[in-house]
Amino acid sequence: MNQPVLAGVAALNVPDYVKHQKLISWVNEFAALTKPERIYWCDGSKEEYDRLCNEMVASGTLKRLNPAKRPNSFLACSDPSDVARVEDRTFICSQNKDDAGPTNNWMPPSEMRSRLASLFDGCMRGRTLYVIPFSMGPLGSPIAQIGIELTDSPYVVVSMRTMTRMGRAVYDVLGADGDFVPCHHTVGAPLEPGQQDVSWPCSPTKYIVHYPETHEIWSFGSGYGGNALLGKKCLALRIASVMGRQAEQQDGMGWLAEHMLILGVESPAGDKHYVAAAFPSACGKTNFAMLIPPASFNGWKVTTIGDDIAWIKPGKDGRLYAINPEAGYFGVAPGTNEKTNYNCMASMRENTIFTNVALTDDGDVWWEGLSKEAPAHLIDWQGKDWTPEIAAATGAKAAHPNARFTVPAIQNPVLDPAWDDPQGVPISAFIFGGRRSNTVPLVTEARNWAEGVYMAATMGSETTAAAAGQMGIVRRDPFAMLPFIGYNMSDYFQHWLNLGAKLAEQQGAQLPKIFCVNWFRTDAEGKFIWPGFGDNMRVLKWMLDRVEGRAGGEENVFGTTPKYSDLNWEGIDFDETLFDAITAIDKNAWRAEIKLHTDLFDRLNQGLPWQLIEIKADLNKRLSAA
Ligand code: GTP
Ligand code: SPV
Ligand code: MN
Repeated sequence: MNQPVLAGVAALNVPDYVKHQKLISWVNEFAALTKPERIYWCDGSKEEYDRLCNEMVASGTLKRLNPAKRPNSFLACSDPSDVARVEDRTFICSQNKDDAGPTNNWMPPSEMRSRLASLFDGCMRGRTLYVIPFSMGPLGSPIAQIGIELTDSPYVVVSMRTMTRMGRAVYDVLGADGDFVPCHHTVGAPLEPGQQDVSWPCSPTKYIVHYPETHEIWSFGSGYGGNALLGKKCLALRIASVMGRQAEQQDGMGWLAEHMLILGVESPAGDKHYVAAAFPSACGKTNFAMLIPPASFNGWKVTTIGDDIAWIKPGKDGRLYAINPEAGYFGVAPGTNEKTNYNCMASMRENTIFTNVALTDDGDVWWEGLSKEAPAHLIDWQGKDWTPEIAAATGAKAAHPNARFTVPAIQNPVLDPAWDDPQGVPISAFIFGGRRSNTVPLVTEARNWAEGVYMAATMGSETTAAAAGQMGIVRRDPFAMLPFIGYNMSDYFQHWLNLGAKLAEQQGAQLPKIFCVNWFRTDAEGKFIWPGFGDNMRVLKWMLDRVEGRAGGEENVFGTTPKYSDLNWEGIDFDETLFDAITAIDKNAWRAEIKLHTDLFDRLNQGLPWQLIEIKADLNKRLSAA
C-alpha cells in the first residue's frame, strides 16, 4: 500500500465499497495535482481513530493526556501563526462580484482557480492524502448534505470523525452517483525527501475559498478549526447558506443555514419549547446551549440540540424546523469551568482533543478561567514553562484565547433526545446577541418579524480571538453571520424577509418571535455587570413567557423590554440599580449606533431591502420624538 513517489501519483487503493466513479476520478485527479506519497480512504472506525491518534503521538502532533485524569484524550499545540479562522483570507468566488457582495472577499473564479492550481501542485509531497466521507445532518436524512474532504492532515481526520457523521456508511448513501460537496484541503507544507516534519505543519500562505455556483471548497495553508474542518463553517454555513437561498428560487421558500445554537427548554409542567440563538464567535453559544438553570428554577430543564450551527426549514404546518448538522462540539476552552458550564466540563471528561490549552505537571489540561487559582507550574500552549509569576511579569497566557476542545455531542449529559431527529425541532423564538460593553440592553423583543430582521441585520459585536486580527473592536456582525454568508448580504436579508412573509401567509401560521440580547455590559472597572451563564435562564424564561403571551414588558423606541418586576429574581442579589445599568438606553449612544447602521446600509447599498430602510427611518423618528 505504501508506494513511494516515482511517477508522481500514488496508488489509488479504492476500497471495494466505494462505487462512485465520479468521486474516484475526482480523487485521482486531485492526487495527480497534489502528488501525495500515499492515499488512504478513511472508514471512520474507532480502530482507525485510535491508530491515527497513536501515529500523531509518535510524530509529536499530539500528546496523550494522563489516562487516569483524562482517558483517551490528547493535546495538540498548533503553530503560533495558525490559531484561528482567517477571515481576510476567506473568499467567495462567484462568477459575478455582486453575488458575493461588498462584505466578502472576492476574486474572479478563473483567476482564483489558476492561483490555487499552482499552490496545490505538489502540495502533498511526502504526505498521505486522506479521503474523508462525512454527512452534515443525520445520515440519509433528506435534510443532510454529504461532503468528501480530501486532506493531508490526520488531525483533521480525527477531528472530522468527532464533529461530523464520518465513515464508510456515507458511501452507502452516496451510491454510484449521489451528490456531494467536494472539499479540498491541504496544510500546504510538502515534505521533501529526508526533510524532518514539524508537529503542526502549515503555510504562511492561506486561502479559504468557496465557489458558490459549483458548491466547491478549497482550503490551503491552515490546519486549524473552521479553516480546515471544512464541514463546519465552509460547508454548513457558507455553501449551505447558498443552497438555502437557491432553494427559494425552486420552492418559493428555501431554507436557512445559520450560526445558531439550538436548545430545548422544558417547564416543570412539561411544556417544551425550542429556541435558536445566533451570537458571534466566542460570544456564548456553547454556554447558552448547555445552561443549567439557577436553583430557584426548580424543575426547569435546558437541553442541547446543537451549539454552533442550525439548518432551518419550513414545515408543512407553517412552523420552522431546525436541525444541528454537526455531531460534536469544537468549543472555546478559556472561561469554561464547573461553575460557568458544568455540562461542558462533563462532556470533556474523556475522548477529547484539546488544542492550544496548557499542560499540567500531572498530564492534564488547564486554561485561563478553569480554576480561580492557576497551578504553580504549567507548560503553556507554545511549549514553554509557565508560572503565575511569569504570567504576571510578561502577560503570557497559559492557553491561547482561542484554545478549544473537540468532543462528541453524545458525551453531553443534557443532550436533547431529539438532537438526531432528521425532522428537526420546531422553533418558538430566535435570539440574536452580541458582545457589547455598552449601549445594547439585556433583552429586547422585536414587534414583528421584519423588525426582528432589522435588529439582527444591524447587530454589532466586539471582535474576539476566534478570528485572526484585532480583538475588542465593535463591528457590525449581521445575524452573527458576517464571515459566514456565502452570497450577497443584502440578498441574505431579503431571503429572511421573504421567508417570514411566506410563512405568515400560511394558515394558522405562528412565526417565531425575535429577540435581541446582550450579556456583556460592563461597569466602570470593565467588569461584567450581568452574572450571565445559568442566570441567562431568567431572560430565557421571560422570552418564553412572551411567546406564551403571559409576561409583561414595556414598549420603547426599539421594541419591548422587561421591567425589573417582569423577571424572576429569586435566589440572586441583583437590585434595580444594577438592572438599570444593563437595560438603560442612552439616547446619544443610540444616535451614534444608528449612524453605524447607516454606514452598514451605505456599504451594502444596492439590493438592500427597502423594508429595512423604512424601519430605520421609523426608528430615527421615534428616537427624535422620545
Ligand atoms: P464559537 O464556538 O466561537 O462560535 O463561540 P460560542 O458562541 O459558542 O461561545 P462560547 O459559549 O464558547 O463562549 C465564549 C466565551 O464567552 C467563553 O470564554 C465563555 O466563558 C464566555 N461566556 C459565555 N457565556 C457567557 C455569559 O453569559 N457571560 C459572560 N460574561 N461570559 C460568557
Ligand atoms: C467560530 O469561530 O465561530 C467557531 C470556531 O465556531 S471555528 O470552527 O474555527 O470556526
Ligand atoms: Mn462558531
